[in-house]
Amino acid sequence: MNYPVWYVPEFGGGLLIALVAIVHVFVSHFAVGGGLYLVVTEWKAIREQDQSIMAFVKKHTKFFMLLTMVFGGLTGVAIWFVISIINPAATSLLIHTFVFGWAAEWVFFLVEIVALFVYFYTFGRMDDRTHQIIGWIYFGAAWISLFLITGIIDFMLNPGEWITNNSFWSGFFTPTFWPSIFFRSFMSFMLAGCYGFLTASFLDNEETRRKMVRYSGKWVLASLVLSVPAGWWYLAILPDKARSLAEGMSPTITRAATVGEFSLVTLAAAAITLMLLNSKSLTKVLTVVVMIAAMGYMGAFEWTREADRRPYVVNGYMYSDGILEKDVERINQEGYLKNAKWVKYRVVTEANQLDVGKELFQHQCFACHTVGGFNNDILVRTKNMSYDAMRKYLAAIHEKRYFMPPFIGNEAEQKALAVYLVAGLNKKPLIAAAPAPIKEQGAALFEENCTTCHGFDVVKSKMSGWPRVKVRNALDKLSALNPAMPDYNGTAAEKDALADYIVKQTGGAK
Ligand code: HEC
Ligand code: HEC
Repeated sequence: MNYPVWYVPEFGGGLLIALVAIVHVFVSHFAVGGGLYLVVTEWKAIREQDQSIMAFVKKHTKFFMLLTMVFGGLTGVAIWFVISIINPAATSLLIHTFVFGWAAEWVFFLVEIVALFVYFYTFGRMDDRTHQIIGWIYFGAAWISLFLITGIIDFMLNPGEWITNNSFWSGFFTPTFWPSIFFRSFMSFMLAGCYGFLTASFLDNEETRRKMVRYSGKWVLASLVLSVPAGWWYLAILPDKARSLAEGMSPTITRAATVGEFSLVTLAAAAITLMLLNSKSLTKVLTVVVMIAAMGYMGAFEWTREADRRPYVVNGYMYSDGILEKDVERINQEGYLKNAKWVKYRVVTEANQLDVGKELFQHQCFACHTVGGFNNDILVRTKNMSYDAMRKYLAAIHEKRYFMPPFIGNEAEQKALAVYLVAGLNKKPLIAAAPAPIKEQGAALFEENCTTCHGFDVVKSKMSGWPRVKVRNALDKLSALNPAMPDYNGTAAEKDALADYIVKQTGGAK
């Protein structure tokens, strides 16, 4: 609301963030776990006095350095670039809340760079003990970076007490902080093993290749096993709403979870096969499978984490569209256009309705919906909705679908958005088709008047087996059934239709 929207209708910012982030995460976790892998493997070479392992470690270090420093660094900068264009309000909040967190992070990043350069360029030219210490310094600094970034990222999923006390420490050590640290650490050790496969698959010496593949496989499998309880812990500690999204209320997350489970199984299977097999050509193919599956696993986790705070960017505080929850009521009264900084019109008129609707869509829906793109396309999702249905949907969008923010603005603005969605995007007339006779509208009446608060299951558990006359009478005084419920103010004909519908659905006596 306080910033302009970067509008690329078919693509959508969310997808761009996700793509850059997943690639970056895949490399930056390797930068942590791979550090441990290097020192521990070097130690193994020293202990076993095995020159072939030492040569492997050196080769792997070079690859590691190039990948994490160059590619990891570039994608890290790309993330900042992309999030500040796509969600400036949230980016600004993160910077302001965690200034010292970021500063500390950059210090450790510098330590990482220096330590890694020293480690690589002194390979074989320094005594073992000192070289090992440098390796440990690298890993320590890298892990502390993970520690710091996790604190800041998890803040968005669940800011906990920060919302009331605004304290840096509450924002940093949120309830999901520790499970997240464990989960990410294990992920990073798992990736270290996966990348170990990659270097090993290029080894010519049969015996070393076999040894290093088995060795890397142990990293992968052990970390995968340990990541499961950490993931569980993470899920168990999520705020209620976020957990119900993760457990199936959100279609996006359900899809991500399927990808995650499939990747996990493929990853484990490919790693085990790799450890048992010893054919050079197959090693490369299976390594590619392992890498893709590992990316699917990490990607599914990050995607879930992103989608899980919907409809917020900072859970319970700032909605995806950059609006603070505490401002919603005021804006609803004063109007969105009056409060927004980057809109063309300040009031809705007959003439500008379509343009205003389009702006409102960009400001409030485009954060998650593309227009004609493959990712959550609004055209597909609104094509069957009439103007009337759209008006009702917008009025209760957040109550019906928790993962979407409420529409924010006054009545005229909400109307303009509906006009744009129906007439502007879907090119449909605003006049609804002739309504079906009241008698046949039971399902629709239920949808409109009851589902804002609860589903049919609640009704069914109470009214199962009730004769029609009892159901019909109950509809006259719903508050008597349960004081938490308002009376239904439909006409007698509507109540008849609704009663018929309920009886039919519950299979009650006629
Ligand atoms: C925080 C993200 C987010 C925002 C913001 C958002 N939506 Fe959605 N919307 C979703 C998701 C996720 C779905 C479900 C997609 C699926 O079924 O795969 C969805 C589905 C829909 C559907 C299909 C019907 C349904 O209930 O599943 C409509 C219509 C819709 N959105 C309209 C809107 C409009 C209009 C706005 C702006 C006022 C908006 N959305 C803002 C995330 C969002
Ligand atoms: C403003 C919110 C709201 C609306 C609208 C609403 N209900 Fe309810 N209803 C509730 C609440 C709260 C309960 C308590 C039970 C629960 O949610 O688990 C409830 C419970 C019920 C029950 C079970 C009674 C019980 O105590 O076990 C029935 C039957 C029912 N509702 C029917 C309807 C019908 C039919 C409509 C639409 C005409 C409707 N409700 C609309 C809030 C609402």
